[in-house]
Amino acid sequence: MYKSRIAGVGHHVPEQVVTNHDLSTMMDTSDEWIRTRSGIQERRWSPQDTGTSDLAYEASVNAIENAGIKASNIELVIVGTISSDYFFPGVSAQIQDRLGLNTVGAFDIKAACSAFIYSLSVADQFIKTGMVKTALVIGAEAQSKLIDKSTEGRDVSVLFGDGAGAAILTRSDDGNGILSTHLHCEGRELKHLWMEAPGTSPNAWINNLELDSDKFKPIMNGKEVFKNAVTRFPEVIEEAMAANKLSMDDIQLIIPHQANYRISQAVAKRMGVEMDKVYSNIHKYGNTTAASIPIALSEALAENKISKGDHIILAAFGAGFTWASAAIKW
Ligand code: COA
Repeated sequence: MYKSRIAGVGHHVPEQVVTNHDLSTMMDTSDEWIRTRSGIQERRWSPQDTGTSDLAYEASVNAIENAGIKASNIELVIVGTISSDYFFPGVSAQIQDRLGLNTVGAFDIKAACSAFIYSLSVADQFIKTGMVKTALVIGAEAQSKLIDKSTEGRDVSVLFGDGAGAAILTRSDDGNGILSTHLHCEGRELKHLWMEAPGTSPNAWINNLELDSDKFKPIMNGKEVFKNAVTRFPEVIEEAMAANKLSMDDIQLIIPHQANYRISQAVAKRMGVEMDKVYSNIHKYGNTTAASIPIALSEALAENKISKGDHIILAAFGAGFTWASAAIKW
């Protein structure tokens, strides 16, 4: 069995900054409500002519450059997203084409906030088994296109933002790299965080619905999400540590999916971890779903928060419900 390592990471966010104050001119909300409930101060929204694939492409170009490889070295493309440009095919096909990757395999993973770790895990298996030597793994979202920007949708819309992050995974030659990944799902809870349409269920197909139907809007039971998140994050982080016989003292940085600063605080408190070990950039970007972990990883590296030999843990929780972790020796 081979081992995989992350050779380079990159990210891209749209230029337009949307502050909490900007939102309060569109809906009945306030900077104070959003800040105290979530820690979010601003987020990015992409322009009308920019789709998820455009953000994903820019992040990929950055990751390829940071990894010091050529795009032609990539043998597999996996994109985590719930906001693909088209109903089908996935964003991965667009990226594969724009990077000029000839006929290499490419597919999307729709595991919402856990999708980057799910994608990383799949790419890791491909590299471990020798199927490919280099893979491009992306998390990308243009959530601003899906959210309901009226007062009716405020509980969801104030939390989410747009962005993309990407990682190049290659075969490790020094024993460092991805130590383990753990993936989980509890599908019976899916209606606590979902968007029903458009879909092929009789209740979700366009012929049967008015286009402004509520079924086209993301729905969230915030309290249930919060309650499950603060249990599942610690569980899956502990699972990663146990699998690798690591204690919290061995971990230099935890990069959680940026769901909500209060969730990260509650998780840190439950685990007895100081917040300076838990990376956060949610104040700048809000929750960017599948993109949040690779964006955070990219920024943590740029801020020199990760050094060679460090143990880091990525952890996510989100719609599905899905949750996941990855332990990495950098
Ligand atoms: N601005 C102002 N008021 C809002 C609002 C907004 N954007 N969204 C909801 N409200 C109102 C509600 O209508 C409700 O009003 P009511 O009491 O008159 O009915 C009230 O605020 C609810 O407030 P509160 O009980 O304090 O909500 P909360 O503490 O449950 O916080 C969340 C709401 C969404 C911030 C919280 O449940 C949460 O963080 N959940 C997890 C969300 C998450 O992380 N999702 C992504 C997972 S990947």
